Order: sequence, then structure tokens, then C-alpha cells
Amino acid sequence: MKIAVTTLDLLKVGADLLALPLSTADLKKRAPALFDSLGLDRQALKDFKGDAGEFLLLYGGTVKCAAERIALLGTGEGSSLDEWRKASASLGARAVDMKVRNIAIDCSTIEADAVSAKESVAGLAAAIAEGCMAGSYRFDRLKSGKLDKKKSPKKSQELASLLLRVESAACDAAKHGVLEGEIVASCQKAARDMVNLPGNYLQAEDIAKAAQESGKKYGYNVTVLHKKDIESLRMGGLLAVNQGSFHPPTFSVLEYKPKGKPKAVIALVGKGVTFDSGGISIKPSENMGEMKSDMAGAASVIGAVEAAARLALPLHIVGLIPATDNMPDATAQRPGDVITTYSGITVEVGNTDAEGRLILADALSYAQKYKPDVIIDLATLTGACIVALGYSVAGLFSNDDKLADEIFQAGEHSGEKVWRLPLWELYNEQIKSDVADVHNTGGRGAGTITAAKFLEKFIDGHKKWAHIDIAGPSFAPKSAGKVSGGTGFGVSLLVELLKRWS
Ligand code: BES
Ligand code: MN
Ligand code: ZN
Repeated sequence: MKIAVTTLDLLKVGADLLALPLSTADLKKRAPALFDSLGLDRQALKDFKGDAGEFLLLYGGTVKCAAERIALLGTGEGSSLDEWRKASASLGARAVDMKVRNIAIDCSTIEADAVSAKESVAGLAAAIAEGCMAGSYRFDRLKSGKLDKKKSPKKSQELASLLLRVESAACDAAKHGVLEGEIVASCQKAARDMVNLPGNYLQAEDIAKAAQESGKKYGYNVTVLHKKDIESLRMGGLLAVNQGSFHPPTFSVLEYKPKGKPKAVIALVGKGVTFDSGGISIKPSENMGEMKSDMAGAASVIGAVEAAARLALPLHIVGLIPATDNMPDATAQRPGDVITTYSGITVEVGNTDAEGRLILADALSYAQKYKPDVIIDLATLTGACIVALGYSVAGLFSNDDKLADEIFQAGEHSGEKVWRLPLWELYNEQIKSDVADVHNTGGRGAGTITAAKFLEKFIDGHKKWAHIDIAGPSFAPKSAGKVSGGTGFGVSLLVELLKRWS
């Protein structure tokens, strides 16, 4: 999707659909004059409240405009970026549903709107671009006619272009914002595609390949450790989870280095379980298919590293992706098995479905090799996190208050919200093992916290570390009227955080 900025007279903006964003306050203030100047019937204003995301297609009276159709787009109070994201996502979604391809949005008041939203012009333009791309996303590549490239593929449902119409004073800032927004949105889209690909299309090797392709395209280094390497490194966690699989594991190392001296070294770790059946501790069949999304952490980390490279951030970023599926088999690990992780710490595997922490254990230990200033892991780690925080918010853990606060703030700003949970010592009681150094499950209660406490064992106490449990927000379950599937949660959050450290 092409995104551009224009200062053309609003009447001359050519598009299949031109959206006029209006806040509740605009309805009385700005809207009547705007309607008159465009030749629109004021009657429509009676049926429009201006709620964020509200969309009203207008018919008749559009004689003065070059645009084919005009729609009103509610921005609510217009007092936050979240409202603008919601509005632009709604615009993108409606445009796709209507099968229009080229859309425009009237951002003539973007300078004042940015002030109301407590944001810069560039920031608001980026949010509009991101929101629109996210809202228009559809995963249709596995529909027949798309699969076979020899047959003429069905026309893509995606939008072809988005045009932001601004006054000339805002043009440069808007252009800058749109460029950034486009990068973040395209990395988010790649992450969503990867999450949506089912287990028969995406195995560990495919994740590694995707990382390599991204690295090649955007000029950062990707090294893939294959099964033999993983064995000689004795990554016992990753190997144990992979034991029942037909497909070999991979461990991808993505490394982006800036031109000058980096301001910091950041390690990002993403859980890459391509399908989580639970293993011998097999999951119930209902909704098991959603466990194709158990590599969402990996997808978001790849997206964030790619975005950092494309934005040329002055940080040295290391992305670490342990990947495998988790399958039952005669060769699979058994409940009760004791394994030795890369760190040397032994683990009693009480439940083979608590596999994410086993592969993350190896990756977190390996991360410390790079002497990072900060380690952050993203993982669809516990169902309990969905119970605690729902489908929109991620769980946050950190051994450093300042880091936790920075991630929280980045969440508020990016709209990818996180909420901190405690790492109190008392929870260690639940993951004690009689036979090994630690147990991989913590019994009833506080499942999200005991999983985080488990990961903490693999962090050198002096290292700043944060764990983000994205089990809820990474995958939208099927619900009427909404697009289900991968969300790319974490890309925008991480990019916002990395930008703050730049
Ligand atoms: N991948 C799951 C967690 C999950 C569940 C993510 C639902 C998204 C939606 C993870 O590997 C898992 O199975 N966790 C177990 C842990 C338990 C066995 C201690 C869980 O949450 O039940
Ligand atoms: Mn599991
Ligand atoms: Zn899992």
C-alpha cells in the first residue's frame, strides 16, 4: 500500500473515497462550513455522533469534489492517539469491505488535531498511516486462487493507496510521520502474516528463512543455528521440546548494528513455538488450532528488528528466536523428565505444555553472551495471563522499576498496553522441585507469575530484564464482525521503546 501526502485543494483530491475526520467538538464548530464548501447536504450531520471509529458514507450533493465518494469518520474527543488509531483502522476496514482501492483522508487541521491529541504532527500522521494499514489487513493468501500462482490469482483485497491531505505548513512533518508509520505498519503486517500461517505452512526452518530474508533485504545480519549446532551448544530446553517433532528446531540470531557507536545493546527474545499441541500433556481439542499463534513473540521480535534497521536507529539490537513445534510422539519428552538447559540449570518437566519457558530459558541464557544493557522477551506464555488481563493487554514483568516504567509508557503511547505484575520472592516456593533445580510449572494459582519467576532463574541478577506475556493480545479469537487472527502486538510497542532509547 502506497501512502503519500498532498497539499492539493481538498476539492481536487481524487480518490475512490475521501474521509472527513470529525471530532464531537468539530460537529458544531467546523463541520457546517466544511459541508458548505464541499457542497454536502448538512442533513447527514444529524445522523452522525462523531464517536471514534464511526463511519458514515454520504450520498448525494458531492458535486464539488473530485473524490468519487465522501464519508464522515468519527475521531471521538480527538484527545488521544488511540482515538485516531481507532478511526483510521475503521476507515481502512470499511474501505476494504467496500472494495475501494484508493482512499484519501482530510488532514487539513492536523496541526490543531495533533495539539489536541498531545502529539506531534509527525506522530499523528504516523498513527493514521499505521491505523489505516492495520485496519485494512486481511489474510487471504490461503484462499484457493491465491495458492496456485499459475492460475491467475484473485485480485488482492488490499488497499492500493492512502493519501493524506494537509496544509503546506504541516507537509514536511506529515511526510516524515507517514514514512515511519509505513515502516512500522509493514513490519506489523509481516508479523501478522507469520502468526496466521498454520503449522503445515510454517515450521522452525521457515521462521529462520523469514528472518534471513528480512536481514538480506534490510541490511542486518542473520545467523541460523541448526539442530547440530543446537546440540553441540547443549540447548537442552529447545531440544527437549523438539524431541517429539518431525521437524528440526532452529535458533535464529538477528543482529542489527548502527553505523556509528551504538547508544546501547538491546537483546530481544521471542518465543517461536510454531504449533503447541501441549506435547504428551496434550491440550483439549477445542481451539487447539489457535496454537498456530504460539510463535507470535518470534514474529514480533523479527518485526521489531526489521523496523529498527529500516529506521536506522542508533542501537545495537540482537534478536534471538528459539523455534520448534511442540508435539506428542514416542520420542517426545515425558512429564517427569529432568532436562539440563544451556545454562546448566536442571529442570523437572512436570507438564510438557509448559514448553515456552523451556526454549526461552536457553535463549535468555544465550542472550547474555552479547552483554546487553537490557534483555526483553516476548512470549505467548500463559493462558492464565488472558484470564488476568484479557485479550487487549499484555502482562509485564521486570527486575528493574525504571525499565518497567519505560515499557509501560511506550505501551500507553503505542496503544499496545501492558500491565505490570509482581516478581516477589514468595512465588519461588511454587516452582521448587524435589529432584531438579527448578520445576517447570507452579501448580494452581498465579500461573503467569510463576512462569515469569521460572524465566528469572535464567537471568544474571544484575542484568536488566523484562518479560512480556502476550498470550492475550497477540491473537484475536473469532468474534462476529471483527477480523480474527494475528495482531502483530509488540512490534509497535518495541519500536516505540527503541525510539525512546535512541
Ligand atoms: N502457549 C501456551 C499459552 C497460551 C494459551 C497462549 C492460550 C495463548 C492462548 C503455553 O505454552 C501453555 O500451554 N501454557 C500452559 C502452562 C501450564 C501448563 C503451566 C497454560 O497456560 O495452560
Ligand atoms: Mn504449551
Ligand atoms: Zn506454548
